[in-house]
Amino acid sequence: MKHFLLRTRQALFSPIQKIQLILQPKMLKGEHALLDLVDVLKEKHLNRYMVVTTAGFIKRGTLQPFFERLDQSNIAYSIFHDVKPDPEISDVENLKEYYINEGCQGLIAIGGGSVIDCSKAALACVQSSHLDVKTVLETGRVSKILPFFIAVPTTAGTGSEVTAGAVITDPIRKRKYALSHLFLIPKYAVLDASLLTTLPPKMTAYTGMDALTHAVEAYINHFNNRKTNEYALEAIQSIFQYLIPSFEDGSNITYRLELLEASYKAGVAITNNYIGYVHAIAHGIGGMYHLQHGMINAIILPIVLEEYGDTITKKLAHIADIVGIAGHTDQQKAEYFIKKLKEINQVLGIPTSIPEIQDSDIHYLATGAEKEGNPTYPTPVTWDVERFEKVIRKIQQGYSV
Ligand SMILES: [Fe+2]
Repeated sequence: MKHFLLRTRQALFSPIQKIQLILQPKMLKGEHALLDLVDVLKEKHLNRYMVVTTAGFIKRGTLQPFFERLDQSNIAYSIFHDVKPDPEISDVENLKEYYINEGCQGLIAIGGGSVIDCSKAALACVQSSHLDVKTVLETGRVSKILPFFIAVPTTAGTGSEVTAGAVITDPIRKRKYALSHLFLIPKYAVLDASLLTTLPPKMTAYTGMDALTHAVEAYINHFNNRKTNEYALEAIQSIFQYLIPSFEDGSNITYRLELLEASYKAGVAITNNYIGYVHAIAHGIGGMYHLQHGMINAIILPIVLEEYGDTITKKLAHIADIVGIAGHTDQQKAEYFIKKLKEINQVLGIPTSIPEIQDSDIHYLATGAEKEGNPTYPTPVTWDVERFEKVIRKIQQGYSV
């Protein structure tokens, strides 16, 4: 009965998901797409933009050509470069205040998922400035369309440049808020491969595996349609082809651009068909132990796929076909695909377990994952808290390659 009610509620969300497919951001892509963005900004005639980025990008002068182009075009801007990895409520509050005080009318977020998510949440709070930040995050109330918002990813993985979601950490409750609203989808996604050439191999690996997790979760979830399947499968294929080469040679612009596009496509796929239990579990673990989101997903993905069991055999077999993994039966192909994920993790230097998980935290983590996943995520099977506990114990102990 509970399962039936969950599925009914998920089915009611389905039309909203289809609308999201239409709302994806306009894409600018290329080796120096960020400079091309200035032409778009010129057309908008806004008073002032807020450029949100990391201290590292400012220090290294990476964005200097962009700032010079803005100056030449008489486009006013302020810079905020104080976003922590895994942004917290205080980061959102600071950015919101600064945006309002500087009189900005638009925002350009240049960074990884942390910068883009913090920007989304801050703009949502700007539009609901009568509420405090915590209330907006807790209730997910995004009451108005965001001001003109552009996302420029500097990692190829989170997909935040296209998704309707933002994840913010509450350091006191040691939990993450997953804000989700159609209004959070950026107007433009700028895929500039030159911004990724200095991304360290470790981050290339983690963020790439995050994108792969998005694509796989979106593909195996219910309510997928032809378009989301296409996007998810194309993303998986590209990641299989380019992630390890990009990990080994980060300066290659072609690999970087392919992965940026794959991440974008995986982002479209999850915006339309959601993430699944890998993410539901990963958000809690990330909030609790401050481990990198993509690394956690990479470890959890094969474990959760094994736990989903026969319900996804056919779909995994199809993915195996797409990425060129041979097998005599669907069962065998599905098994080999999961095995391949473990092998990729090994090449990328990703651990096989999360020993940081404490026994005393397992129930809390399981409760959080169940609450996040049910009924929102249209997962292939529905788990209760007990089942989540069992899976989290497996993640703590790890898998063998
Ligand atoms: Fe993710």
